[in-house]
Amino acid sequence: MKASAIANANIALVKYWGKRNKELMLPNNGSISMTTEGLCAHTTVEFDEKYTQDQLVLNGNEIKPGTEDYDDYVGKFLSVVRQISGTDLKVKIVSNNNFPTAAGLASSAAGFAALAAAVSKALNLPMDAKNLSMLARRGSGSATRSVLGGFVEWKRGEKEDGSDSYAEQIVDENFWPEFRMIICVTSKKEKKVKSRAGMAQTVKTSPMYKAWLETVDNDLETVRKAILEKDFTTVGKTAEENCLKMHATMITTKPPIIYWNAGTMEIIHAVMDWRDEGLESYFTIDAGPQVKIMCLEKDVNEIVKRVKQFSHIEDVIITKPGSGVKIVDDHLF
Ligand code: DP6
Repeated sequence: MKASAIANANIALVKYWGKRNKELMLPNNGSISMTTEGLCAHTTVEFDEKYTQDQLVLNGNEIKPGTEDYDDYVGKFLSVVRQISGTDLKVKIVSNNNFPTAAGLASSAAGFAALAAAVSKALNLPMDAKNLSMLARRGSGSATRSVLGGFVEWKRGEKEDGSDSYAEQIVDENFWPEFRMIICVTSKKEKKVKSRAGMAQTVKTSPMYKAWLETVDNDLETVRKAILEKDFTTVGKTAEENCLKMHATMITTKPPIIYWNAGTMEIIHAVMDWRDEGLESYFTIDAGPQVKIMCLEKDVNEIVKRVKQFSHIEDVIITKPGSGVKIVDDHLF
């Protein structure tokens, strides 16, 4: 009962921020993302009688049951898996990311998409993409979208049981191969406020949250249509505006959540200046200080050359639309 899977991370163009049901991990709004090629989690699971307790090794570090990092994430997810499958076998999980964990690079998205796929294979729970995305959702909201490749929409859904809150592919990874995200890593430190706690606090305290929710459906429609038309200007502009609206709700949370650092600000201003010069690029930022610059393939070299000259850059990663989760034979133990 051993299986492995690899899943790519994703970066949202229309963001998910806030839950309507914490237990079932149901969002207050729909979201759209690009699955990012090459930024991945590789996960192996084994359910076996030889294990006397659940075990998780993430990037070489053991995360023990009883800690918040375990109980609120993998622990909670495994209870769902045991409920669905009926198994009471203990499991060993080993997972490696090839990018910085918890620094706003959607590590939980790739991790839980890979974990959901590996678990369903190991326990022989046959699942289509829709059901797999709903299982991944129970681990982390953004993981719902990493099950599929290309550009993906996570439907908010209306039902209380969450059965209509799943991922749907808008177009696959081969549809728009010229689309690029340049990830500018401005700090590799773990962020102080995790997305889960941050969004709950925003929903509770930000006076801007209601306004955010009122505009998201419109952004979803605009971005969905612009992706299908390969209208880069509309995708980039709408995604950038959507990101700034989400950050407005974060900044106005009590106490304030400000994920940006000096490096983040430097890039925001630069991207806006480049656009005035005719170098078309837009930015988006998640729950961390990294800036993801959206551009087309033809402008990648020029933008990377400029980004590397900034003082706060720790890493630059170029990514394009990537594939959905895959079961692999390559086990990590
Ligand atoms: C800002 O999916 O990490 O990246 O569902 O609580 O695990 P949980 O949160 P998570 O939140 C992601 C928030 C975001 C926006 C996005 O990816 O849509």
